[in-house]
Amino acid sequence: MIISVDELAKSIKNNILKITKENKIKLVSVALEPDKATLAYLKSQKKLSKSLNVDFELIKTKSKDELIRTIKMLNEDKNVNGIFLAQPLPFDPYEISVYIDYKKDVEGITPFNLGNLIYEKSLVKPCTADSVVRILQNSTNVDGKTVSVIGRSIIVGKPVSIMLAGKENNATVTICHSHTKNLKEIILNSDIVVAAVGHPNFIKKDMVKKNSIIIDVGINVVKGEIVGDVEKSVQEIAYVTEVPGGVGEITSLILLENLTKLYTIQN
Ligand SMILES: NC(=O)c1ccc[n+]([C@@H]2O[C@H](COP(=O)([O-])OP(=O)(O)OC[C@H]3O[C@@H](n4cnc5c(N)ncnc54)[C@H](OP(=O)(O)O)[C@@H]3O)[C@@H](O)[C@H]2O)c1
Repeated sequence: MIISVDELAKSIKNNILKITKENKIKLVSVALEPDKATLAYLKSQKKLSKSLNVDFELIKTKSKDELIRTIKMLNEDKNVNGIFLAQPLPFDPYEISVYIDYKKDVEGITPFNLGNLIYEKSLVKPCTADSVVRILQNSTNVDGKTVSVIGRSIIVGKPVSIMLAGKENNATVTICHSHTKNLKEIILNSDIVVAAVGHPNFIKKDMVKKNSIIIDVGINVVKGEIVGDVEKSVQEIAYVTEVPGGVGEITSLILLENLTKLYTIQN
């Protein structure tokens, strides 16, 4: 059984267009020596931006110093409303995200915006985590449900767990990682599973509860094909988001929705 994100995608696009139809809004993506996969992602970001009436520019840099200088320059540029930092980087992204003005932080990854997430007073939330939460809110009543989040990264696992356990969602969350001992048992007892592991087909049919909800965040390339963290056969007994599509599609839209929210705050 597939969880469709079509209606949610439509409503986020409408939210974006309400602002971009009336205003000139610009997103700048900054990359350090981007590889082929990153360039392909940035190309799709440019296409989506254009389709939603957002100006888009890509700046490629060649060193960490140049990357930091570029971000400082974009912070000061009144014509730039949002800054996207392309990843992966060959060092801890924190070393760069600290320089991004929180009012231009479309990804919600600056220490200020992540700190506000813990206070439950976010300007913008991390896009992928917000994508997971909004797909869930759109599909079920999360309140009181048991959720296992597999992964504890800064951009997915940790913020998803904080958001789901917070007062807006009231779920009971178990955060799992590579040191978790009884993973299968935890997943089997969960009403909802968020798989953000980065291992293809990691979640198997015999690991999940019948009729549970499985959000597949994984994007893995296997023999040139994109596959998720959840084996296809899980769809036979549970409700699962698709890869590609699903979380990734909503994440890209939330990034532009965050841009429009920040534009409103800036003005
Ligand atoms: N759809 C989207 O928009 C989107 C956005 C971002 C990322 N992604 C995808 O989501 C996946 C996760 O991304 P990420 O950035 O969160 O990855 P990450 O930083 O590599 O984190 C992976 C997490 O999985 C945990 N893990 C690894 N092996 C495990 C195991 N055997 N059992 C339990 N936990 C295990 C790790 O535990 P430790 O902390 O102990 O190492 C870590 O916390 C990737 O496939 C990525 O491409 C998708």
